[in-house]
Amino acid sequence: MEQNLTVKNKWAEKDHKWQIIEERKYMWNQSQIDRLASVMGLSPGMTVADIGCGLGYLGWTYWKHFGKHGTYIGVDCSDSLMSEAREISVEWSTSGNANFITGNCYDIPIDDGSVDLTMCQTLLMHLEFPEKAIREMIRITKPGGIVVCKELDSISRYLRLGFSSVNEDANIDDIIFQRRMKLIWIHGRKMLGFGDYGIGARVPKMMQEAGLKEISGFCRDKLEFLVPPYDEPEQKSRIEIIERFAGESTEEEKQESKENYKKYYLAGSGDPISFEKDYSRLTELFRTEQENRLKQITDDTLFSCSGGSNFFCIFGRKPCFKNN
Ligand SMILES: C[S@@+](CC[C@H](N)C(=O)[O-])C[C@H]1O[C@@H](n2cnc3c(N)ncnc32)[C@H](O)[C@@H]1O
Repeated sequence: MEQNLTVKNKWAEKDHKWQIIEERKYMWNQSQIDRLASVMGLSPGMTVADIGCGLGYLGWTYWKHFGKHGTYIGVDCSDSLMSEAREISVEWSTSGNANFITGNCYDIPIDDGSVDLTMCQTLLMHLEFPEKAIREMIRITKPGGIVVCKELDSISRYLRLGFSSVNEDANIDDIIFQRRMKLIWIHGRKMLGFGDYGIGARVPKMMQEAGLKEISGFCRDKLEFLVPPYDEPEQKSRIEIIERFAGESTEEEKQESKENYKKYYLAGSGDPISFEKDYSRLTELFRTEQENRLKQITDDTLFSCSGGSNFFCIFGRKPCFKNN
């Protein structure tokens, strides 16, 4: 069957720059980044490619480990993100080279076997054909080099309960309903070719099938929680994100969200007859939670702890010879 390799990418369409930078400030603990860099064998002078690089987050995060006399090549299908990434990189890419190329991860514009280490973060979860992207990442990596995928298993994340003072007293039917709707949405998203939110847990299998050796991995070592008065920088930032995106939508935006949701719902085997009822129950639960959340922030009574992480860093080595 002919594969459809057109880029289906919503992420770059909206102005998410502020959110991207803010969320990434606290995404991984610096101590863990340093440990991962050492396990991956990053060292000054290396050439590192970052596929689906966005604004170049992996570049500025790992730069101190390879950047001196080293080279970073960020590749992303969004031209506008590449221009912005280039501007930002002036700040962090001293004493080495940082390059940004507009390109498709299914056909990476980098020569075979020319890169010491190839990485991606939250790229595969947006792809219809993640295996093809992994094979491309392997192609551009030198024999003996490392391929790293930092990806989420968001399905497990959405299924777990954790604790939140916002819905502490929610009834069990509502909790199960919300999770069922999430699973339908995730399945629909995958069926429509927008990628698999559970991809993190599939990466070791995909790497092994693509021919990588010595596959190993880590979980992000961060516990996410909110405790008033939220005066730690990380908590402050999370509160700011909640407040900034809590505004009331226009009727037109609401209608657009509903139409989009419906597409995913139907593609994910949701029952067409139940859609209107399900959608209004879901949006009502969301509205109530959001109101509670904002009120509790104002009152300094919002507590949450979502537990451990389903964000994985998985890597494998490209064999030196075809058969090892
Ligand atoms: C969630 S963002 C992650 C960005 C960056 N890795 C980070 O962690 O900040 C996913 C990125 O993948 C890019 N992308 C999606 N499909 C792509 C494709 N087929 N080829 C190249 N980049 C792609 C998007 O433009 C977006 O910048």
